[in-house]
Amino acid sequence: MTEETVYEVKNLNAWFGEKQVLKNVSLKVYRNKITALMGPSGCGKTTLLRCLNRLNDYTETFKLDGEILFDGENIYRMDPVQLRKRVGMVFQRPNPFPMSIFDNVAYGPRIHRLVNSKKELHERVESALKAAALWEEVHGELKKSAYKLSGGQQQRLCIARAIAVEPEVILLDEPTSALDPIATERIEKLLEDLSSRYTIVIVTHSIGQALRISDYLGFMYRGELVEFGETAQVSEDPKHELTQQFLTGKIG
Ligand SMILES: Nc1ncnc2c1ncn2[C@@H]1O[C@H](COP(=O)(O)OP(=O)(O)OP(=O)(O)O)[C@@H](O)[C@H]1O
Ligand SMILES: [Mg+2]
Repeated sequence: MTEETVYEVKNLNAWFGEKQVLKNVSLKVYRNKITALMGPSGCGKTTLLRCLNRLNDYTETFKLDGEILFDGENIYRMDPVQLRKRVGMVFQRPNPFPMSIFDNVAYGPRIHRLVNSKKELHERVESALKAAALWEEVHGELKKSAYKLSGGQQQRLCIARAIAVEPEVILLDEPTSALDPIATERIEKLLEDLSSRYTIVIVTHSIGQALRISDYLGFMYRGELVEFGETAQVSEDPKHELTQQFLTGKIG
C-alpha cells in the first residue's frame, strides 16, 4: 500500500482511574483519507479520538501508555498547542463561541497570529466559510451572532472555525448526531470534499454514514479495536464475528 501515514498509534492502553477504556489499540491514519470509528456506546471511540490531540490530558484520572506518532513524531514530545493547531476538532453538539460568525472563524487565526493584516484575516475567514459550504448563506451577515444560525449551519461554522487555522487533520466526534437528515447529508458531502485537502477522522454511531463516507473503517468493542481496514473490505468481508454482528444490527 502506498498511502502516506499521518498517525501511527501503537499498542495504546488508556485508563480513567482504575477503569481501562482502551486496550492495546494500534492503527494508522492515512493522509487525505476519511477514517471512521464505529462501535457500541461506551466502547472508547471518543476517548481514542481525544487521544489524537491530547484532549484527555485535562482529565486528572486519565492515564495512557503506548505510543502515538504524528508525522513520525511522538505527540507527547510536541507542544500541545502546536499539536492542536495542526489537528482541529469538531464536537458532537455544535459549540460556536458566543460571538459573531466572523469572530468565530477569525478566532484561531488571531490567537495563532497567522495573519498580518485585516485584509488577510478577511480573506482567510471567507475561504474557510467557503470550504465549509457556509459562505453563500452567511456572507451578508457576518456580524450576526453565531447563535442565530440553525444547528446544521452552526456545525458547518465549527468546521469553518477548525479549517481557518489550516490544520492537517480534522477530528470529528459524531458531528451529525444532533442534526436532521438534510443537514447531515450536507455535512457528509462537505467531508468528502474536504478529504482531498485534509485528513479526516470521524467517530460515528451511524453504520450508514461510516459506509457512505469513509475510506478506512475501524470497529471498536469494549476498548479494543476489533477490526480495522479499508471500508469496502471491513463491510463486505469482516474478519471478526463481532464486526459482522454489529454491521447486521445484532449488537450495538
Ligand atoms: N472523563 C471521564 N472520566 C471517567 N470515565 C470516562 C470519562 N470519559 C469516558 N469515560 C469512560 O470511558 C469509557 C469509554 O467512553 P467513550 O466516551 O470513549 O465511549 P464512546 O465509544 O465514545 O461512547 P458513546 O458512543 O456513548 O459516545 C466509558 O466507560 C466511559 O464511561
Ligand atoms: Mg462518544
